[in-house]
Amino acid sequence: METNNHVLQLRCAPLPVVRIGFIGLGNRGMDTLERYMILDDIEIKALCDLSEDNLRKAQDMLNRHGKPKAREFNGTDSWKALCEWKEIDLVYICTDWNSHPSIAIHAMEWGKHVAVEVPLAMSVEECWAVVNTAEQTRRHCFMLENCCYDPFTLTTLQMARTGALGEINHCEGAYIHDLRERYAADTKHGGYYNNWMAKYSMHFSGNPYPTHGLGPICQLLNIHRGDRLDYLVAMPGNAHTSDDAHLNINNTLIRTVRGISILIQYDVSTPRPYSRMQTTCGTKGFTQKYPIRCIMLDGHDALEGEATESLMKQYEHRLTATIGAEGRQRNVPNEMNYIMDRRLIYCLRNGLPLDIDVYDSAEWSCITELSSISVDRGSQPVSIPDFTRGRWNLIKGFDFAY
Ligand SMILES: NC(=O)c1ccc[n+]([C@@H]2O[C@H](COP(=O)([O-])OP(=O)(O)OC[C@H]3O[C@@H](n4cnc5c(N)ncnc54)[C@H](O)[C@@H]3O)[C@@H](O)[C@H]2O)c1
Repeated sequence: METNNHVLQLRCAPLPVVRIGFIGLGNRGMDTLERYMILDDIEIKALCDLSEDNLRKAQDMLNRHGKPKAREFNGTDSWKALCEWKEIDLVYICTDWNSHPSIAIHAMEWGKHVAVEVPLAMSVEECWAVVNTAEQTRRHCFMLENCCYDPFTLTTLQMARTGALGEINHCEGAYIHDLRERYAADTKHGGYYNNWMAKYSMHFSGNPYPTHGLGPICQLLNIHRGDRLDYLVAMPGNAHTSDDAHLNINNTLIRTVRGISILIQYDVSTPRPYSRMQTTCGTKGFTQKYPIRCIMLDGHDALEGEATESLMKQYEHRLTATIGAEGRQRNVPNEMNYIMDRRLIYCLRNGLPLDIDVYDSAEWSCITELSSISVDRGSQPVSIPDFTRGRWNLIKGFDFAY
């Protein structure tokens, strides 16, 4: 169903304390809960998982940190009751990919804001359903794309905004992570609940996990804030693992309306070093995080090592210099998660638009189904929907709200 009310730069009533219900307390959910133990101005009100063991571990964590016991929700459909509980402001979803959209929709229908792990949804239809619900309910739907807060990403953004890279004409991003052992592991050894990720990815020839690579690029390119993803072509490469498991590498090329090309690669099944590429090419400069950090400005030699670090310092982003520095001081394991957490709570408490809105979440996630459609058609071009319904040029440029 279409609506006339867009949620671009949505502002909602400020929340003095953000009352949170967590759904999904597996690997990522427990890590997230631990991160939230050191945040101020929040209350963990509810915990939900299918496993009683995970709920006990989560309650133990609250107890160890001197926090009150949370209300427990256990059972196949108990996430619905959590979403409906009136003592919650934010539903935080860390379940497997397939369950994200239905939980997000139900939570918004019951008046809750949503923070959902990547990706938001696995099909274009689900992406539209979440966008429609966010517009109808005027609730936030924030996809937890932590890579948008990576220090190198933020430096690149700062360089672009000050004109140091000139006109950007090409970007590359990826999720290259050798997960073969993890796919085979049981849940006691870091494996996924019910093997959900391997089950989804086996025989899937599109890119099921595009957002780590694409999210930071879309913010850099002001997607739906002056430019728009137009169409893609995708090509798979075989990566055999065993007789009954067949995983693909996927290469997807996207072109924006303003003519910028984006390469997004996915490979979790070959022995390669971890990489998200994070490559940006402009008319005046080049930045690349993986495999080694390298920055080159027009008319100068390529910088690596310490020379790169000192240039990065020169273009250090405000978020890295403030919240990131604080995180490093507090010895948090991953600065980009800390900045994401702090920004989400800060914006909710101050009634500000969130850094990632429902249109971002849908645009970045819909690549999964569209890349597989292109592959099935022999790499033919496939159009990317405009989830803003023509409003992609209303806002001029992406920025963080303060
Ligand atoms: N942003 C990142 O860097 C990052 C890193 C890791 C994982 N993730 C994302 O986090 C999500 C979870 O991944 P994971 O590794 O924690 O998976 P996992 O299998 O370890 O955990 C999923 C949990 O969800 C629970 N669950 C499933 N269905 C449920 C339901 N209906 N009701 C209640 N609980 C339910 C399971 O019991 C399990 O504990 C995925 O979307 C993944 O892509 C993101």
